[in-house]
Amino acid sequence: MSKDLEKLEKVVSLCKRRGFIFPGSEIYGGLANSWDYAPLGHLLKQNIKKAWWKFFVQERNDMVPMDTAIIMNPKVWEASGHLQNFSDQLVECKKCHHRFRPDHLLEAVSMRPEYDKAKVQSISELKCPDCDGALTEPKSFNLMFKTFLGTNEDSATTAYLRPETAGGMFVNFKNIQTVTRRRLPFGIAQIGKCFRNEITPGNFIFRTREFEIGEFEYFINPKDWESVFEMWLGEIKRWWSEVMQINMDNLVWHEIEDGERAHYSKRTVDIEYKYPFGVKELHGIAYRTDFDLSRHEKVSGQDLHYTDPETNEKFLPHVIEPTFGIDRMLLVSLLEAYTEEQAPTSEAGETEARVVMKFPRKLAPIQVAVLPLSKKEELSSVAKDVANDLRKNFSVDYDETQSIGKRYRRQDEIGTPYCVTFDFESLEDKKVTVRDRDTMAQERIAIAELKNYLQSKFE
Ligand code: GAP
Repeated sequence: MSKDLEKLEKVVSLCKRRGFIFPGSEIYGGLANSWDYAPLGHLLKQNIKKAWWKFFVQERNDMVPMDTAIIMNPKVWEASGHLQNFSDQLVECKKCHHRFRPDHLLEAVSMRPEYDKAKVQSISELKCPDCDGALTEPKSFNLMFKTFLGTNEDSATTAYLRPETAGGMFVNFKNIQTVTRRRLPFGIAQIGKCFRNEITPGNFIFRTREFEIGEFEYFINPKDWESVFEMWLGEIKRWWSEVMQINMDNLVWHEIEDGERAHYSKRTVDIEYKYPFGVKELHGIAYRTDFDLSRHEKVSGQDLHYTDPETNEKFLPHVIEPTFGIDRMLLVSLLEAYTEEQAPTSEAGETEARVVMKFPRKLAPIQVAVLPLSKKEELSSVAKDVANDLRKNFSVDYDETQSIGKRYRRQDEIGTPYCVTFDFESLEDKKVTVRDRDTMAQERIAIAELKNYLQSKFE
């Protein structure tokens, strides 16, 4: 196994062991490719979503929020093209009935030493990688999850779980623009769950059938599209470098060429990441022209045009759409944070291996751990009071079990930026020791000053 895949395995195992992400429905033997966010994973995800919202919505005066329905009128998906086109090609093994995407199948079989590209005329000439069985010709497979409204499972009540959040924002464009009295350019943003019946889910939380997207539709006058696209590309770069603080060398800015883009898009950039399993999409940005509003206008029969109040020009707004997979951002934050290093022990000159999740401080699931050196009531009661007070401003873990060394290691592994230790001297001098996760430097801070001290670290 490559070093990169070994790292992924270690991250998956840490997620289970420390309570970031559990395999879904585990007590029933699990459900393939379904995952549950455990306490720390939930907190990390909340922090990523909060940071995303603050950066792309709250701090700007040109964005408005929404939270739209997961199940919408099926006409929405007729207008957006999802009913007709949101499909993947798949081939099926005639023997074991496993299904594969032709591109993934080619990727898998091309690794085999006997594979000879020149000899393969059609995908169905390949053999099933699982049982060597014969394969069918490729067929189209719609990725939308069907459901039924009401009690009759007939076609009149067929509905779909949304495969993206964008539709909800397009169909509300006119309402939002009217009630908020916004002028172009402005954006509508939301974060929400989406569902796709993926043929080949996998690679931990990279591709699942249920996932979250944070995206916005930024409505513009078409004459401005190039500069607005550049502006958002710049903001996306700032997001990755300043907020997510990742190693920017791990990103690949993939300009999608003519002929490869969706037919309605004039420019698309996929932001890819060097995952342990290869360079693959992290998220994207697309100039969708007026495709969506014109389709919704046509299918709904409603006028969705905008009139510029200064020039009286009436036109259908065009859209730039930056879209972010929340779970993929979380996966990237785990991969970027995972660090193995040698740390000094209490014995002079000696070191030991430690695993540290070096999350940016603001994203860390637990911000401060309060650790009394002893479980004795005289120490723990004061330490608990301090922890309770800190809880009003920070996400706090209180832990009085095991040796202090083990407790530090645990906090390092879950990425807690600061550990506050209480010792018997604390009762006398009213001070605590604050340990920094990354430098492991320790500082003695007055309890009365502790909150301000920590607050300054999270600014
Ligand atoms: N409205 C545009 C749109 O939905 P997309 O590229 O199909 O675009 C947006 O999806 C993002 O959602 C992707 O860039 C990716 O981050 C994430 N995503 C898509 N399918 C996913 C899946 N099966 N599992 C996890 N994340 C997924």
